[in-house]
Amino acid sequence: MCGIIGYIGFRDAQEILLSGLKFLEYRGYDSAGLCVFVDMKGELLVRKLPGKVRDLEQILKKQPLGGNLALGHVRWATHGAPNRVNAHPHLDCKDEIAVVHNGIIENYAELRQQLIKEGHVFKSQTDTEIIPHLIEKFYRRVSLEEAVQKAIKLLSGSFAIGVLSKREPFKLVGARCGSPLIIGLGKNENFLASDIPAVLTYTREIVFLEEREMVVLSKDKIKIHDFSAREVRRKPVVINWDAKLAQKGGFTHFMLKEINEQPAILEAILKYRLNDRGVYFEELGAVQQKELARVKDIVIIACGTAYHAGLIGKYILEELTGIPVAVDLSSEFRYRRILLNKHTLVIAISQSGETADTLAALRRAKDMGAKSLGICNVLGSTLTRECNAIIYTHAGPEISVASTKAYTAQLTTLYLLAFYLARLHRRVSSQKISRYLSELKKIPPFQRRILIKQKIIRRLAHRHSHFGSFLFLGRNINYPSALEGALKLKEVSYIPAEGYAAGEMKHGPIALIDEYRAVVCICPQSKTYEKMFSNMQEICARCGRMIIVASENDRKIAHLSSEVIYIPVIEEVFSPLLVILPLQLLAYFIAVKRGCDVDQPRNLAKSVTVE
Ligand code: AGP
Repeated sequence: MCGIIGYIGFRDAQEILLSGLKFLEYRGYDSAGLCVFVDMKGELLVRKLPGKVRDLEQILKKQPLGGNLALGHVRWATHGAPNRVNAHPHLDCKDEIAVVHNGIIENYAELRQQLIKEGHVFKSQTDTEIIPHLIEKFYRRVSLEEAVQKAIKLLSGSFAIGVLSKREPFKLVGARCGSPLIIGLGKNENFLASDIPAVLTYTREIVFLEEREMVVLSKDKIKIHDFSAREVRRKPVVINWDAKLAQKGGFTHFMLKEINEQPAILEAILKYRLNDRGVYFEELGAVQQKELARVKDIVIIACGTAYHAGLIGKYILEELTGIPVAVDLSSEFRYRRILLNKHTLVIAISQSGETADTLAALRRAKDMGAKSLGICNVLGSTLTRECNAIIYTHAGPEISVASTKAYTAQLTTLYLLAFYLARLHRRVSSQKISRYLSELKKIPPFQRRILIKQKIIRRLAHRHSHFGSFLFLGRNINYPSALEGALKLKEVSYIPAEGYAAGEMKHGPIALIDEYRAVVCICPQSKTYEKMFSNMQEICARCGRMIIVASENDRKIAHLSSEVIYIPVIEEVFSPLLVILPLQLLAYFIAVKRGCDVDQPRNLAKSVTVE
């Protein structure tokens, strides 16, 4: 998605913006630009282009702009091709107002027609460009913020915007509706950005704008009010993420760093969530606990990797609590007839907390009277404000577009939630829970045992990087692991990959098997081991090229293939937390071998804030 950064203060704005935009690159973009108010000239100067932030940096190195009031933007095209004229910032007719925007203005066509009738001249094909012209229309004998207030009232759709004007070069205005926007507080300087990593180098004090709120920043103060001009007071949150956390920490890519962070993150979650009385969610107060105790059925809504976590959540929650669980893609859930009641708990899983389809599905579920629980990784994101209750996954900033550590953090949270609900509903004894917890505590060291084999996995991946398509097979709780493994591979390496329930082989996929097809078989110790083993014999008989994920104590599997990645023996219900590591590494090493842009794969965005 697009990324915004704004600065007002005592420093050279363009350096701050370039550094901030680099931290926003992971959101996925195709153009970059910035606008600076240059005091000496009393003018707004704009530099923008299709391409990377580093290209913009080259231009500015040759001709620095100076100035300490500025807006910057990385654009992920939704309306209008990725070219210079469509890049942000966009200006009004008189080049007095500059705007950067993240989101989609759904009624931009009629607004554009009206503005053209009123004499406004447009340069781009974007929806965004109607915003500076609308502000220009109202910016007569009123302040910039009042003009912005009038303009945004006419917008429908989603937006997070930054606005500045050369007529009032001592302020920056921000507003959000459906897309995230945060404020960074400094000394004699303030920041506006789409999310935290963009400003973390300069400040840890963050104020979150809520839905339908505006902010006016000067260099020494900020003022927040809602769209009806009612003032809002909001305390800053001190972010304890170290700026380095958002760096690569010595790894070649964020994806590899985040794969390797998983044991430490799961350890921290277990430490954070377990006390002498068992599982503890400080986000859930007595009211939420009472509501959770009354839950009769659960519906999980999510997209992509979060959806796969939800599918595994179904196995875990039904196994441990006996509560029926349905799992739905958010983009499907929101358009079909929904059968919910007041005893239904809707669990919305989202790493970013900004996924448009999941937010829309959540809003529909709430309209139907369901209680909602969010499982989310980003503090202060929209999802966390719209759910009745929230549980944070605390995976730290996930920069790579491909979700890895957030996925295992979501799974871990779902295990803990299942234990928590099982106790609330008195479905299992505390002895059984403590046995499960001691098994869960084995996961981080077992994950480390897999991660020390990265070199072996990399060589195996390289031996298979030439295959033109992959099939991933799994059974029972590892059927969703097969779906997730396929998604990881396809999104970073662009190789067609399909996840399938192994029991479905004879219902179609077996027709695909030959020596040109790589088949990843997930076959740890489990109650379906024998069934999976015979699936693999059928693949062998058809010369399929198998990669097998198996348990360390398996002596039979080597007869089927020499390409085996062994994982420690663990109770089947917890095996997804181990199985996924070889699959993540396989995807990563194949993608690197194929020269793909691993952290920012083509056409993808880290957070899909538009439909
Ligand atoms: C996963 O690797 C992808 N980046 C994508 O499928 C992602 O999981 C999906 O867009 C959901 O994002 P969310 O968790 O932020 O809602």
